[in-house]
Amino acid sequence: MELSDAMRTTGAVREFVGGPVPHDVLHAVLDDARFAPSGGNRQGWRVVVLDDPDLRRQLGALCAPVWGEYLAQTAAGETPFSVVRPTSVDLAAAAAQPPPNPLLDDLAGAPAVLVVAVDLTALAVTDRDLGRPSVVGGGSVYPFCQNLLLAARDRGLGGVMTTFLARAEEQAGPLLGLPADHALVAMVVLGTPSHQPARLRRRAVEEFTTVDRFDGAPFRP
Ligand SMILES: Cc1cc2nc3c(=O)[nH]c(=O)nc-3n(C[C@H](O)[C@H](O)[C@H](O)COP(=O)(O)O)c2cc1C
Repeated sequence: MELSDAMRTTGAVREFVGGPVPHDVLHAVLDDARFAPSGGNRQGWRVVVLDDPDLRRQLGALCAPVWGEYLAQTAAGETPFSVVRPTSVDLAAAAAQPPPNPLLDDLAGAPAVLVVAVDLTALAVTDRDLGRPSVVGGGSVYPFCQNLLLAARDRGLGGVMTTFLARAEEQAGPLLGLPADHALVAMVVLGTPSHQPARLRRRAVEEFTTVDRFDGAPFRP
């Protein structure tokens, strides 16, 4: 598959057909994904392949309240879990009554589930002292996660990166044996897609790219 086509068609897949993804296929996916970049090439990612159905169930249950919070904030017209805008939503109430989420509710039946963490001691976080939420550290591990999805796509698989579990890190960490100074990054679910994602909807280049300054003229060819 052309690289450009792969980038343009690797959408989120949350419904799958078929049985578990064989370990050799998962290994090959990880073997491609490991060529992701990271700050200082420190490669701080750590991955757990979740085979245990009970553990999957427990983690899915930890994610469900976060899904409730997410949906309630979305319904209120908010960016969920914004770090710069307060929420008007009663998060505790939303967490207590999460609507169904087929992916999380049947995580035990998903073809493959990977949990990605990062070793915080491996992160060079250049925006750490700015007095606003830091974003640079994630740049050393999310390219790896996207590589997982691209490597899966190359093998006819699809999947989705989810971050619900990060919100439940305090409870999920002990279940997973998360080491000290590590943070949960994502749970990536992979499998054979039940259908290919529709054409991806993304903003045009001119809508997010300007010349010389962020308030400059739209960048055009
Ligand atoms: C950092 C990040 C976090 C995400 N978290 C979740 C999540 O918790 N649950 C989920 O279902 N999808 C999650 N997604 C998938 C996004 O919803 C998806 O990439 C986006 O809606 C675009 O979907 P599309 O590629 O099918 O157009 C996440 C994606 C990213 C990049």
